Amino acid sequence: MSKILEIKDLSVGYEDNPYVLKNVSLDVFKNDFLGIIGPNGGGKTTLLKTILGLVKPVSGDISFFGNGVKADKINIGYLPQINQIDKKFPISVFDVILSGLTIKKNSIFSPYTKEQKEQVNIIARQMGLDKLVDRPIGALSGGQLQRTLLGRAIIDEPDLLVLDEPNSYVDKRFESNFYKLLEEINKSTAIILVSHDVGTVISLVKNIACVNEGLHYHSGTNISTDWLEKSYNSCPIEIVGHGDFPHRVLEKHEGCDCCKED
Ligand SMILES: Nc1ncnc2c1ncn2[C@@H]1O[C@H](COP(=O)(O)OP(=O)(O)O)[C@@H](O)[C@H]1O
Ligand SMILES: [Mg+2]
Repeated sequence: MSKILEIKDLSVGYEDNPYVLKNVSLDVFKNDFLGIIGPNGGGKTTLLKTILGLVKPVSGDISFFGNGVKADKINIGYLPQINQIDKKFPISVFDVILSGLTIKKNSIFSPYTKEQKEQVNIIARQMGLDKLVDRPIGALSGGQLQRTLLGRAIIDEPDLLVLDEPNSYVDKRFESNFYKLLEEINKSTAIILVSHDVGTVISLVKNIACVNEGLHYHSGTNISTDWLEKSYNSCPIEIVGHGDFPHRVLEKHEGCDCCKED
């Protein structure tokens, strides 16, 4: 399988928080579906933002590959964590999805082509939003907003789709529908799905990594309690049966960052 992303010895920090990620290495392949789990504050969002070029690494390398050869960049679609969305911003479903496309026309009136606008309608239909294209995003339910942003993330046919805590958009009615969409997208696109809910991740993905300052990679989803405990670094976790998959129950306890709500 051909590699599309290679991360080597990556360390990332912020001015007031210099050691968020330390010596992280990771390979992502075409059609991969990688789940990234880990406690809150462990550095999952920071890793995604570094891959997207939004945060500059302190040291280490990120390389991209297209058709097996090194490339300057690949096309990455991004579904941000819900707390990073400004729902009051006055923009319609149509325009949000459209904004996922690269501007092709040099016109101040409408910089997008007719074909691009038709493409928005096709994606809106695929996302079950065809009746809502004119609605402002502030008037959408969590699930509708999530599918609008997923539409924006995939409209430009990305090589890699990156989803940060998609279950933070809580809309139970559409959850299984959303995961079916992801399975469909994964037929042509590699996916990295970040979640602090191990149960959600395990039932969907092909491989797993746990990010908690460092990165522990697990090929396949057959993870053991031992592996989880080691990767979560002494956070009290408990695995209980949850359908066919184990489910993490994280007990609330004082003074531990991993128990903070997002
Ligand atoms: N812009 C920022 N400036 C300073 N510190 C940050 C910033 N973003 C995140 N952090 C800190 O980096 C650590 C990792 O955060 P984050 O990557 O959001 O973790 P996760 O997504 O796993 O919850 C946390 O301690 C957080 O407070
Ligand atoms: Mg996060």
